[in-house]
Amino acid sequence: MAASGMGNYSSLFFPGRLSNSDFRRRFFLLGSTSRFIPQSVKGVFAARVNAATSTALVETKPDPIMDEFKLESCKDILACPICHSPLISDVDSGSSLDSPAGTKFQCRTCRKAYFEKDTHIDLTITGGSQGYGETRPASTELFRLPLVSFLYERGWRQSFNIWGGFPGAQKEFELMKDYLNPVSGGKIVDASCGSGLFSRLFAKSGLFSLVVALDFSEAMLRQCSEFIKQDEDLPKENIILVRADISRLPFASGSVDAVHAGAALHCWPSPSAAVAEISRVLRPGGVFVATTYILDGPFSYFPLLGPAREAIAQFSGSHIFLSNKELEDLCTTCGLVDFKVTRNRMFVMISTVKPQ
Ligand SMILES: C[S@@+](CC[C@H](N)C(=O)[O-])C[C@H]1O[C@@H](n2cnc3c(N)ncnc32)[C@H](O)[C@@H]1O
Repeated sequence: MAASGMGNYSSLFFPGRLSNSDFRRRFFLLGSTSRFIPQSVKGVFAARVNAATSTALVETKPDPIMDEFKLESCKDILACPICHSPLISDVDSGSSLDSPAGTKFQCRTCRKAYFEKDTHIDLTITGGSQGYGETRPASTELFRLPLVSFLYERGWRQSFNIWGGFPGAQKEFELMKDYLNPVSGGKIVDASCGSGLFSRLFAKSGLFSLVVALDFSEAMLRQCSEFIKQDEDLPKENIILVRADISRLPFASGSVDAVHAGAALHCWPSPSAAVAEISRVLRPGGVFVATTYILDGPFSYFPLLGPAREAIAQFSGSHIFLSNKELEDLCTTCGLVDFKVTRNRMFVMISTVKPQ
């Protein structure tokens, strides 16, 4: 009994592949303890249970994620992450896409189909695959855990202030406004948005015509969607949720006005592959604003810092930056210019621009 209980609870930690009987056991647990389980965590189970026990459940049709207004406002930027060609939507094609049922988008060139999930559009390369899956480095997989997405805005993100000097979402937003002013009115991608703390601020600010909340973690996107739904003051018509890999962005080259990445650069498996992608999708004059942390000052006297960060990178996929210069080089090497920095202890906010 104890062992099976642990098996059920382990689903909070391991969102990977499960047998149908696992789904059913889990659903039983969900029913008996549902009062104690947050909506975002339940969503993960419910989606799977629906797939596994469709006869036992009454399917309710969720609100469409992409209505015609949203489709119109994002159709110039969305592109196939494989070949970067424009995507055709089922609305454009009169719901007659030459592809599997449930297809929301299809690449005009390679014909790859992309699907709408319960809260987001899945524009990852492997999103629709039946038999193939990949495990990412720990710095990516950690955030796919429903428990982490639940805790993220309930203490986890706030702790960055204590150890690193991150000022907090509202103040970070105020700080970045100066950098983002030149692109106001445009389309912004909140890359690695997590539970969407900045995506919501962008949407509420009215500074942008479209906010794309993008993350690789389905659990984070579910939590993000839940916070958006709960916020009555948030205009819902100009925000969309997209699942994508930062190293393979589903946007046309030169189409995006701004990319923001809060506390994420150090989590990306390859910061250079990611920043190169960001540089590709930014239009000339487009702005990239990011925050991360730097171990310099007293840390630079630690003799083994260099080798230690290599080991940490190999073990966890997480990259530790040791100087402002390193971040500037990263951006310059990816074709971005006009590098600016704001610091507070280990916290750093950088801004850089795609040349005109
Ligand atoms: C520390 S959280 C940052 C969340 C939020 N932007 C903030 O400012 O607090 C890092 C985020 O990076 C995302 N992430 C990690 N690897 C990624 C990848 N390969 N592609 C896209 N997002 C990724 C994680 O899912 C997680 O939500």
